Amino acid sequence: MGPGRSFPDDFLFGCATSAYQVEGGITNDWSAWAEAGRLKDPSARNERAVEHWDRYLHDFDLLAGLGANAYRMSVEWARIEPEPGRYDDAALAHYGRMFDALLERGIEPMVTFFHFTHPPWFHATCPWHLPERGGPERFAAFVERSLEVVAPRVRRYTILNEPGVWLTGAYLAGAIPPGEKGLGRVAKAGASLLLGHALAAAKIRKVRPDAELGIAHNVVAFAPESSSILDRLAAGYVARQFNHAVPRAFDSGVFQLGETPGLRYTEKVPGLVGTLDFLGINYYSRVYVGTRLRRPYGELSYQDREGRGVTDLGWEIHPSGLTRILAEMARYRRPIYVTENGLDDRDDSRRAAFLHDHLAAVLDAREQGVDVRGYFHWSLLDNFEWLEGHLPRFGLFRVDPTTMERSPTQGAEHYRRIIQARALPTERPPATLKPGLGPVRVG
Ligand code: FCB
Repeated sequence: MGPGRSFPDDFLFGCATSAYQVEGGITNDWSAWAEAGRLKDPSARNERAVEHWDRYLHDFDLLAGLGANAYRMSVEWARIEPEPGRYDDAALAHYGRMFDALLERGIEPMVTFFHFTHPPWFHATCPWHLPERGGPERFAAFVERSLEVVAPRVRRYTILNEPGVWLTGAYLAGAIPPGEKGLGRVAKAGASLLLGHALAAAKIRKVRPDAELGIAHNVVAFAPESSSILDRLAAGYVARQFNHAVPRAFDSGVFQLGETPGLRYTEKVPGLVGTLDFLGINYYSRVYVGTRLRRPYGELSYQDREGRGVTDLGWEIHPSGLTRILAEMARYRRPIYVTENGLDDRDDSRRAAFLHDHLAAVLDAREQGVDVRGYFHWSLLDNFEWLEGHLPRFGLFRVDPTTMERSPTQGAEHYRRIIQARALPTERPPATLKPGLGPVRVG
């Protein structure tokens, strides 16, 4: 395959993971959720994850073997502060060694402090929807303490991962911990998460003035299910809420949910303006919005309308949606990193082509003038996929669930080729298309 369109020399090529999904040996709100039988498979547990905590040196060798120059990971609050106010220095030192191992391999760490998980005591003590109990300040204190180890080694931060997705699951659908439901609480919890970001940002700036601060924000290519006016209005509404409420707050200092009087919640977030240097975009798929009599905001589904196929979780493969979303996000006038993008590909039949097409979509956006500076594939390794457990396979490297042995997918090989050439080969790797068998409900 000859070299095709190219990436700039300083473009970041990396992979992303999160602590609870890969490390193993963590006791937090999610492990309690699993114990309570609240995952899709009530018997599923995540005690070992994929043992990244112990195998990180080998895993970073795999990453370095691809030629990657960046790695996005999170530090686990539950490990670092297992009881309120008691910090675990050994855990912090371990993270320090992980960052050092990355730096020794020429890989820049990008760190997330909130990737959906909390210490077991958090929700009962100071839940996000009751900020007067001090949740944002406790989060900032955990960040401050972690910075003793993190700040000397890390320049780029996605402080929060996907606040919109987390709020939807935790405070609207009630499907993930703490399992709350209620519109007013979503807005309160959202504003206090953003306050947590603002307080943490101030701590980081103090000790690392050259830090680049961002979030990893999940965006979806929403589309109306039909050309009816109702479906179009609903799709526009959902897109404004889900894709824009969070980034908009960083410019206005106000977190606003809802648009209609009586159903509009507005919360000021002091100190938020000025704390976003870049925008991290997590992009996976397109979602159709269709109105239903009893669901005023529409029903959300993945559908394979263009015959490009779906992932094993049924998510439509829709690379051009990434170009469209990146162009739309350019309105926030920040450099952009694609901080997550990937697929559940259980038989390794589509990852190479998926990577190829989504990196082509990034180049398309760059050609339109969008300042995209990096791409992080989700994920380096197969891992624990939240409510879905260990069934999905998101890894560039397959992990054998018993031996924990890692082996490269064809996606890894193709990614390596792209990274080493800093260009997209002219030939697209083959893919076996898996057609969608009808709409798949989101959630
Ligand atoms: C994102 C999450 C990440 C992973 C992928 C598949 O929403 O940030 O942890 O679960 O989806």
